[in-house]
Amino acid sequence: PFPFYRRMRESRPLFYRPEDETWQVFRYAEAEQVLNNSALFSSVRNRERGQERPLQNSILNMDPPQHRQFRSLVTQAFTPRAVAQLANRITSIVTHLLDEVTGSGTMDIIDHLAYPLPVIVIAELLGIPREDRALFKTWSDAVVNGVDGRGQNRPQPAMSDYFLQVIEERHKEPQDDLMSALLNAQVDGHHLSRQELLGFCILLLVAGNETTTNLIGNALLCLDEQPDSMEQLYAAPDLIPGAVEEVLRYRSPVQLTGRIALADTVLGNQHIQAGQRVVANIGSANRDEAQFPDPDRFDIRRSPNHHLAFGHGIHFCLGAPLARLETKIALTLLLERFQDIRRVPQVPLEPGESILMHGVKHLPVTFRQRP
Ligand code: HEM
Repeated sequence: PFPFYRRMRESRPLFYRPEDETWQVFRYAEAEQVLNNSALFSSVRNRERGQERPLQNSILNMDPPQHRQFRSLVTQAFTPRAVAQLANRITSIVTHLLDEVTGSGTMDIIDHLAYPLPVIVIAELLGIPREDRALFKTWSDAVVNGVDGRGQNRPQPAMSDYFLQVIEERHKEPQDDLMSALLNAQVDGHHLSRQELLGFCILLLVAGNETTTNLIGNALLCLDEQPDSMEQLYAAPDLIPGAVEEVLRYRSPVQLTGRIALADTVLGNQHIQAGQRVVANIGSANRDEAQFPDPDRFDIRRSPNHHLAFGHGIHFCLGAPLARLETKIALTLLLERFQDIRRVPQVPLEPGESILMHGVKHLPVTFRQRP
């Protein structure tokens, strides 16, 4: 999509399509303004379209003041500190996943690492017992497919029952997991209701899994395309966090997010009318030459790098510290163990099916075990 984005930034940075009453925003400046102004650009997206969607009532679709209250409840449980404490667990999960492929000299980055890792981490965070993990994975796929419009559009009843049961168990007997912390959180004496907690668990599956899978896959894709960068990371692994930020900018896993204008306004030099939809093209904003010098160059030392890959403003991704940590650990261990990691060029890259996302379905590589 990147050459298309460039043409649009140059020729029609705000592009209106009457068929769906939607403005497409391609430049960084206006995309940031849209995400930054929740009073003017609402996240309550589905109301006039009359569609039932599983995440209609999630935090992603709330405006203030409801959003503020819900967000402060969930951030109490989902703190950067709680996430940092997961580092050891993530390391052992990645180690285990890499153990499975080490002898063979070949692996699919997606199937063997990028796909299972976030699912296992979320399952553990929520306190799902190991024996139920396969079930959990099937549900998580079904939910993601539903949101993309490919599968059934509703979370499976069995999954809801299962989560409600876990919620009850944690209510009776709190554990050291996110579910218990979420049950415990309160703002002005308010707790999350069972239904709210259920909705939030489902959101975590949708918001956290495919996105993180794509980030890890895209990282390997970028490094395969830029062997110099790969060499630099071998020589100086402390550059890995900066490289992850550059992957987020250069191949943003989430390419766009939408809002609805609440009042007539001017954006760029266009008049937007109340009720029209506005799409912030994150993937294009992150390649905007007005914000990033030489934007089509992948530069792991780029600084500053204020990309919009995790959004901006009040809806800024709650899972950003977790996604960054998982990706950093995955890359660190991959490079520690393997050298000469190369994509198998005979297998053509197949993009994922959702237009919201940027990533590949498979990424087979060969490697040699480091001595
Ligand atoms: C929100 C991207 C991983 C949970 C967002 C938004 C973006 C985003 C762009 C803002 C959407 C908007 O403003 O409309 C990403 C990317 C990820 C990632 C690129 C991985 C590379 C995760 C993970 C979790 C998570 C791992 C949780 C486990 C959330 C939640 C929100 C959110 C709960 C809603 C926050 C709110 O509405 O206040 N994410 N995300 N995300 N993300 Fe992520």
